[in-house]
Amino acid sequence: MSNANPLNAPDADVLAIAAEAASDIARLTGVEHHDIAVTLGSGWGQAADLIGRTVAEVPATEITGFSRPAAEGHVGTLRSVVTPRGKNVLVIGARTHYYEGKHVRHVVHSVRAAAATGAKVLVLTNGAGSVRPAWSPGQPVLISDHINLTGASPAQGAKFIDLTDLYSVRLRDVARSIDPSLPEGVYVQFPGPHYETPAEVRYAKIIGGDLVGMSTALEAIAARQAGLEVLGISLVTNLAAGVKTTPLSHQEVLEAGRQAEPIIGALLARVIGSL
Ligand code: HPA
Repeated sequence: MSNANPLNAPDADVLAIAAEAASDIARLTGVEHHDIAVTLGSGWGQAADLIGRTVAEVPATEITGFSRPAAEGHVGTLRSVVTPRGKNVLVIGARTHYYEGKHVRHVVHSVRAAAATGAKVLVLTNGAGSVRPAWSPGQPVLISDHINLTGASPAQGAKFIDLTDLYSVRLRDVARSIDPSLPEGVYVQFPGPHYETPAEVRYAKIIGGDLVGMSTALEAIAARQAGLEVLGISLVTNLAAGVKTTPLSHQEVLEAGRQAEPIIGALLARVIGSL
């Protein structure tokens, strides 16, 4: 890949660039086709080791269209892992966030690349703030729906994509067959990178939100556009601003992720292993 990211061009052919990324992934991992893709958010890093045997791990920057990760706690690699049942899983540890100021086509490139590798299922994970006081840090929550407050869309032009049941009922059932106690909630994507104000969190609650975060919704829309079946799981890393009365810190969010990692990693590995 050359230094210039082809997605920087305003008229970039995003599907051709995703296809190029998929061929880079096939060449660099030696795995022609992936069945499942999973994007690892804050706190979910250990899952990669538990999903199965790692066949190859590639720095994301060697793959067409991927950008250098910005935030601490986000690993910049793609891994090809085989589950005990023989499914090839593309583990995406390189997320581009909308708050990095890049165009949405950068934010959703990994999703389009995953679809181009042949994946039919995408599992999106993230760390999120909880609007509900009953959900403590460390609690995994299935995403039942989202509210996109970024004002952006990965689709361009007259593309009217149905988002009913965006978060697959079938896959949520699979997750609950592994852990029946998993609650569900509506994820609200704010643009970030600042955390929300308490008033914004109250607003998120009033409009039907349960979780607040800075990723996932845009990726889920792109996944639906690409025909992927989506499972979203949030790890509550903190109570959202105002729900907790002390200030929020990125360190706290990372620490909650680190503490929950073995448990949620095992959960994610079991969900993916059962697909
Ligand atoms: N708000 C937004 N994003 C987040 C939060 C939060 O409280 N926690 C982790 N990511």
